[in-house]
Amino acid sequence: MRIILLGAPGAGKGTQAKSISNKYNIPHISTGDIFRKNISERTPLGIEAKKYIDNGQLVPDELTIDIIKSRLVEEDCENGYLLDGYPRTVEQAKALDVFLNEREANLDTALLIKVPREFILERMTGRRVCPSCGASYHVKFNPPKNEGICDICGSDIIQRDDDAEITVNKRLDIYEAQTHPLIEYYKSRDLLSEVDGTQAINDVFESVSKVLNELRK
Ligand code: AP5
Ligand code: MG
Repeated sequence: MRIILLGAPGAGKGTQAKSISNKYNIPHISTGDIFRKNISERTPLGIEAKKYIDNGQLVPDELTIDIIKSRLVEEDCENGYLLDGYPRTVEQAKALDVFLNEREANLDTALLIKVPREFILERMTGRRVCPSCGASYHVKFNPPKNEGICDICGSDIIQRDDDAEITVNKRLDIYEAQTHPLIEYYKSRDLLSEVDGTQAINDVFESVSKVLNELRK
């Protein structure tokens, strides 16, 4: 299956992506995770991307499109993939369409995790992430078993630099202006599906599974 996850920052894309990737056996590709890995390794890409990410801005399309294209030709993507955080602009969506058309491949769906803005701030400011394995937690909604320690790999969990309140608000404004139009983009192509992302994490996953199981029939 080839799936795009759409949704505002903090909607729960990364949280659901981990479960979807396990259940449907497709790689979880997050441009945000790719950028953060490069930032922590201080690669030229990371140094460039950090300038934008720390400010809550989008990394320029040229850079992002190249990165995703080189990731999607890797062997593990042959039977599908789950894109989390890409596309984020109409330009990026068009580049993905070209990439798919060249390979005579189709998207199965663009799945929107719908969460109104008033829920987002608490989710983002309470989020903690594992810098080693990328697992995501929430101090209230999804705490690790041992405070401050990643359940999966045992590393100390941290707060993302771009989860400060002021940056979160900026990211939400940019989402409205640049990424929200993708909902219409995929709706007009009859590819949009959506789930209520305000439910508890397991219930969101149940809704997601229903949508994806329907598509597999
Ligand atoms: P990215 O890492 O993609 O960030 P984002 O879209 O802002 O999304 P988040 O990761 O913040 O939220 P999420 O939806 O994954 O939520 P999560 O599951 O963690 O991108 C970071 C930056 O990189 C961007 O700002 C941009 O600069 C750059 N970038 C990335 N891709 C780009 C692109 N294509 N083009 C240009 N620039 C790009 O959940 C959030 C919290 O809520 C967690 O604490 C979680 O435990 C909790 N939670 C999740 N679900 C629930 C629930 N149902 N109930 C209660 N709590 C929940
Ligand atoms: Mg994420």
